[in-house]
Amino acid sequence: MPKTINISQNHQLSGLDKHELIRIIEDLQGEKRLNDGFANLSETGSNDAALMWRGRNRFLAEQVLPVKLEIVPQLSYPKNKGGEHRIIDGDNLAVMRSLLTDFRGGPNSGFDVIYMDPPYNTGSDTFTYNDNYNLSKSEIEKLKKTVRYVEKGVSLDDPSRHTKWINHIAPRLWAARKLLKYTGVIIISIDEHELPRLWMLMEEMFGEKNRIATVVWERSRKNDATYISEGHEYMLVWARDEAALRQMVKLKGKWREPKPGLDIFMTEFKRLKNIHNDDYSEISKGLKGFVKGIKKGDPLWTIRQYVGVDAKSANLGPYKEDDPSWPGGGGPNYSITHPNTGATVRTPPKGWVIKSFEAFQDLIDQDKIVWKGDGTPKIKKYLLDGRESDVITSIIQKESRQSVMMLNNLLGFGDAINHPKDHLILKRLFSVVTWNNPNAVFFDPYGGSGTTGHSILEMNAEDNGMRRFVLVESGDPSNKKIGREEYTNKLTAERIRRTLSGKWADKKDRPKLPGGFTFYSARKDIDRDILMASDRENLADIILQIVEEDSNRQDCRMDGYKYLIGKTRLGYGIALVWEKGNVKGHKPLTKEIRSKIMAEAEKAGVTKPVYIYAVANVSPINDKLYKFQQIPDSLLARLNLLEED
Ligand SMILES: C[S@@+](CC[C@H](N)C(=O)[O-])C[C@H]1O[C@@H](n2cnc3c(N)ncnc32)[C@H](O)[C@@H]1O
Repeated sequence: MPKTINISQNHQLSGLDKHELIRIIEDLQGEKRLNDGFANLSETGSNDAALMWRGRNRFLAEQVLPVKLEIVPQLSYPKNKGGEHRIIDGDNLAVMRSLLTDFRGGPNSGFDVIYMDPPYNTGSDTFTYNDNYNLSKSEIEKLKKTVRYVEKGVSLDDPSRHTKWINHIAPRLWAARKLLKYTGVIIISIDEHELPRLWMLMEEMFGEKNRIATVVWERSRKNDATYISEGHEYMLVWARDEAALRQMVKLKGKWREPKPGLDIFMTEFKRLKNIHNDDYSEISKGLKGFVKGIKKGDPLWTIRQYVGVDAKSANLGPYKEDDPSWPGGGGPNYSITHPNTGATVRTPPKGWVIKSFEAFQDLIDQDKIVWKGDGTPKIKKYLLDGRESDVITSIIQKESRQSVMMLNNLLGFGDAINHPKDHLILKRLFSVVTWNNPNAVFFDPYGGSGTTGHSILEMNAEDNGMRRFVLVESGDPSNKKIGREEYTNKLTAERIRRTLSGKWADKKDRPKLPGGFTFYSARKDIDRDILMASDRENLADIILQIVEEDSNRQDCRMDGYKYLIGKTRLGYGIALVWEKGNVKGHKPLTKEIRSKIMAEAEKAGVTKPVYIYAVANVSPINDKLYKFQQIPDSLLARLNLLEED
């Protein structure tokens, strides 16, 4: 059964405004509805269609074990030092659960963008699945110890291939949603193999109203196709909460990207202006020469018409001449007088595009109309008068060969991963969906060749940004080139190392980029041995991770005490006794330690009992001020791991 969600424990509520609090309540209500809906389809309260599959009614209730995140200094960059970005080697679902402590989504917390590029389930890609339906968790763990990995590739003739894929993706989508800032955006790459199922899942999990767009990336032409070349794939763009995102639009404007080629064009304009000063026709002549011969596809293509120059161009840039007639027909009809000849100007057959005579006259008075030799008017549209940016369209055409070649130049092998994404396309999207926020935080749970990280490093280098990313990669068992154990290091992390150092395989001169990353290994599920071998800091981390369902670590972690490690929003204390001693190598909870803990709790303003974690309790007093939690059993019980013994 889904747990009851305690609102006050999950978020730092003080400091939020009414609007944000309402959002949290709506979000939690939505979450509860969804849990009920998945547990029992008839409870959705909706008569509408929903995706049905074997596993639907239990996946949200299934417990995901957190994993221990261990820093690997020698694989970090700079070596042994690390940096602000994170690359994590491990299964993304378990890692996502662990990331909740630092990145739980809320009005002001969580990731700004999650980019997911899961295996597409093509029958020959990286999609593997644990096929041991009938084995218990502990049997699977035992199997892992002998064969190491229990997943198998999923082939196209597997009759339950879609079920397997949905069972893989559904909990990950749900985990991703929890990590997304309320104003955040998720972008998911997919192709026709699983698009229908993914779309339905997204509608149910994120809500139809939060769909932003479906972007089509046309990446190749398949001349050997039997019927029609299907050389494109999709990027589903959804908001966690479109209403929250709309508030951002009010503040920051609509999503736009700088007009391609704007910088190059304005540099040329300024160069010509320096030479010709106020000789507008010479500057204009220079610009016409500059854009001559520009072909479709060139970044300057959409700018090529801005070759008119006048006194206003010093501030508004060059202008283009626009047709003043109403595009569809049926526009307003009024008479205009030519300011120089006094002749009446013929109204275009479709009517004027300017809504009234007064507005047209105003343009004439402001010298924003060009009068052609035959007496017809054109409207001056200045480049820097709101035209310096473009809307992104839902079709992007770019050959995927370019990203494979780039990866080859960078790593010396471009074929270690099938279909790497194009980091320049990701850059465009990441920039637009964050209003190019230089502090945005990005998450990519299917790290692959590190394309997401590469994009962000370049974005930071271009504007001295402080964007951060977290990439997770588990290694691809089907990859013939790189072994699974080394995959994250040799592919994901290596690309980022080379991008940062500028030392590409092709040995060409490249700049160093600012930044660094810390490499984490998340290969160890938490078990009895891991708990008992942990140092105090790690164990405190694990305890706070495990209790986070009741008290989010962001809310309750406390530093600076010998025993106390946290305090929940409701005022409960959490303490850990973890010093060398005689019970299983550790000190038990004694009367003396208990008194010290109580003194710490009082100082920290703990108003409810303290949960004290220790290997044993030899404190004679048993009172209502504390609740003893035995290590490791109380933690293993929370993780449902006791049956393994
Ligand atoms: C389609 S590729 C991603 C490619 C990447 N976007 C790029 O441009 O290189 C999917 C990646 O996810 C990894 N992967 C698959 N299942 C995973 C899991 N459960 N946890 C972490 N990574 C996983 C695969 O090993 C593979 O490298």
